[in-house]
Amino acid sequence: MNVQVFRTKSEEETVEAGQRLARLLGPREVVLLIGDLGAGKTTFAKGVVHGLGAAAPEDVVSPTFTLIHEYGSEPKIYHIDLYRIQNEHEASALGLEELLDSEGIILVEWGERFPYLWPPERVEVHFQWLSEQEREIRVLAPQPTGDPRRRDTMSP
Ligand SMILES: Nc1ncnc2c1ncn2[C@@H]1O[C@H](COP(=O)(O)OP(=O)(O)OP(=O)(O)O)[C@@H](O)[C@H]1O
Ligand SMILES: [Mg+2]
Repeated sequence: MNVQVFRTKSEEETVEAGQRLARLLGPREVVLLIGDLGAGKTTFAKGVVHGLGAAAPEDVVSPTFTLIHEYGSEPKIYHIDLYRIQNEHEASALGLEELLDSEGIILVEWGERFPYLWPPERVEVHFQWLSEQEREIRVLAPQPTGDPRRRDTMSP
C-alpha cells in the first residue's frame, strides 16, 4: 500500500491535490472519496477531472441530486455521489456494473456505504476536517501492478 498525506489550507490546494492524483490514474481505476459532509470530496474531484484534462474545475459540480456525472472520453470519468442512495436495491438500480465493466475512471463519494460494489484494487482518499480552511487528505493506493513508473510521482 502506497500512502500519501496532504494538508491543504484552501479549496485551491485541495483541487491541486486532486490534480496530483490524476497523474497516477489510468483506465478502469476506482477511487473512493471518503469523509464527512463538507470535508472536500467534491473539491478534490474537481482537481482530478481537471488534471485528466476532461473539464475545468468550475464545471465539475456535485452529483448529489443527479447521482452520476460523466466527463471526457477515452477514458470517460464518472463522478458518482451515493449520499442519497438509501439501500442496496436503489444502488443496484444505478447500473454501476456497466460503468465498472467499462474503461472509465470512477470517482465515488459516499461509496464506502456499499463496500461490496467496489473492486478490492481501488484507491481510497480519506478527508479529515482540521479547521474551517484546513483538511488532511490521505491517499491510499494499492501497490503498482503494471507499469512501475505509474505510482511514484505524487510529489511535486
Ligand atoms: N482546504 C480545503 N479543502 C477543501 N475544501 C475546503 C477547504 N477549506 C475550506 N473548504 C470548503 O469546504 C467545502 C468543501 O465542500 P465539498 O463540496 O468539496 O465537500 P464534500 O466532501 O464533497 O461534501 P458532501 O459530502 O456534502 O458532498 C467547500 O465549501 C470549500 O470551500
Ligand atoms: Mg460532495
